[in-house]
Amino acid sequence: MTSSASRGRPDSPRVVTDSAALSQVLRKARTGGKVIGLVPTMGALHAGHLSLVRASVAACDLTVVTIFVNPTQFGPNEDFTRYPRTLEADLQMLGREQADLVFAPAADQVYRAGFSTYVEPPDVAQPLEGRCRPGHFRGVATIVLKLFHLIPADVAFFGQKDYQQVRVIQAMVADLDVPIRVVICPTVRDPDGLALSSRNRYLNATERRQAVAISRSLARAEELVRDGERCAATIHSAMRAVLTSAGIERVDYVALVDPLTLTDVDPVPDGTMALVAAFVGGTRLIDNRQLGKG
Ligand code: PAJ
Repeated sequence: MTSSASRGRPDSPRVVTDSAALSQVLRKARTGGKVIGLVPTMGALHAGHLSLVRASVAACDLTVVTIFVNPTQFGPNEDFTRYPRTLEADLQMLGREQADLVFAPAADQVYRAGFSTYVEPPDVAQPLEGRCRPGHFRGVATIVLKLFHLIPADVAFFGQKDYQQVRVIQAMVADLDVPIRVVICPTVRDPDGLALSSRNRYLNATERRQAVAISRSLARAEELVRDGERCAATIHSAMRAVLTSAGIERVDYVALVDPLTLTDVDPVPDGTMALVAAFVGGTRLIDNRQLGKG
């Protein structure tokens, strides 16, 4: 093992910070015929991330978790500098989940001086987050493709919580013939319905109470569709009413879209994805739910 790879307490995973050490470990695993699972994250781990790790540990022989707050997916006025960085706590959690290897590179390892090649993201990156966060999916697609090259995994695990991100990655993998299987894991929520997110820790007590309206607005859409409502405008305004009555005024979008193309639907068939992006105080949160699927 090189000096950049270390195993702390017996229950913590091996941590690798440079790509040479990483490929050395992975080469051994691959020649041993091990099935490799990859879970890309930006750290500040919570039970949502850990559900992906659990899925990988259950399905694969070797689970690699990456922790990297990727600067290229943040806009100039976004929270890159204040994004929570909690490596020690993350490693403890990953040890408990029996993740085998953590790749936690420094930014200058990933983006070397002179870096200038980016992935042009697919069409599904255009609406919704693509419109509100220009350049975001270019950064996501670029880092995820780089991670796919650095970690030649058989399977990669992503959360439905970031549904458009999953669609972007699936399209990129198909379009660019990346030899990896993408698995989508369900969104993990707090008991009141709020989707877990590293950004939830920005919320104060009042905002935390307001934030639940985001998942409630999705539940309201589900209720309407179950009762036979198919008119997109009616469902949109019912969803917005739930947000407004909780004091959430700054809504980036409420959308009812085809689950594959992410284009607007009207009337609203079963299987439609409902998505919300809204600010609770200064914190931008997103959530989604597939309607009419039980
Ligand atoms: P991050 O926000 O850290 O999320 C890492 C993975 O955890 C993503 O696949 C995300 O969808 C999943 N996840 C987050 N919250 C979840 C929840 N409540 N339930 C289930 N899964 C959840 O997404 C990113 O990082 C980055 O964009 C990344 C893909 C790592 C590229 O930088």
